[in-house]
Amino acid sequence: MNSNDITESVRKLHTYEKIPYDLLLLAEETIEAIDKYIKDSEIFVLEKKNKILGVYVLQPIDERNIEIKYIAVDEKFQGQGIGTFLLEYAIFEAKKRGLETITIGTGDCGIKQLQLYQKVGFEIFDVKKNFFVDNYPEPIYENGRLCRDMVMLQKQL
Ligand code: ACO
Repeated sequence: MNSNDITESVRKLHTYEKIPYDLLLLAEETIEAIDKYIKDSEIFVLEKKNKILGVYVLQPIDERNIEIKYIAVDEKFQGQGIGTFLLEYAIFEAKKRGLETITIGTGDCGIKQLQLYQKVGFEIFDVKKNFFVDNYPEPIYENGRLCRDMVMLQKQL
């Protein structure tokens, strides 16, 4: 897939369309949690031949600042640059809207995600201590590491 193809394949999901829970569940534990965190959000999908390969969810923090609540890429298509592209696309679109910052959070267990977000220019600005311990009924592990804190990263636009 070349970059022009990818750009043309990103679109906002209409409110009448099905939420791609299958993909979002790669980034979150349960549908209940997704529903709790995506209120008032816009969902963007990368679609190829009527199949959704990637998704990100944008939620306004206030009039000037926005957060990427979730990002996920179909497991079969991970590691091919789609996640990087979607983050860069979200940053570009937020700049076009005249916003001041874009924020993203991930578990302290998500080392690869942290690297990815820093690679596209996000910087750590806050740590929500014990976020996963306090907000989830079961412990969450990723690659054998317990998720304890939520690491918050931000990029100035
Ligand atoms: N998980 C995390 N990072 C990965 C994975 C993986 N399974 N596979 C590859 N990477 C690394 C790559 O090494 C690459 O690093 P490099 O550029 O230095 O080579 C980097 O991540 C980016 O690779 P991309 O191909 O651009 O990213 P990809 O298309 O795989 O998407 C994403 C990254 C969204 C994290 C994807 O792997 C995924 O959906 N993971 C499961 C869901 C998830 O963890 N979402 C984020 C939770 S936090 C949140 O939603 C705000």
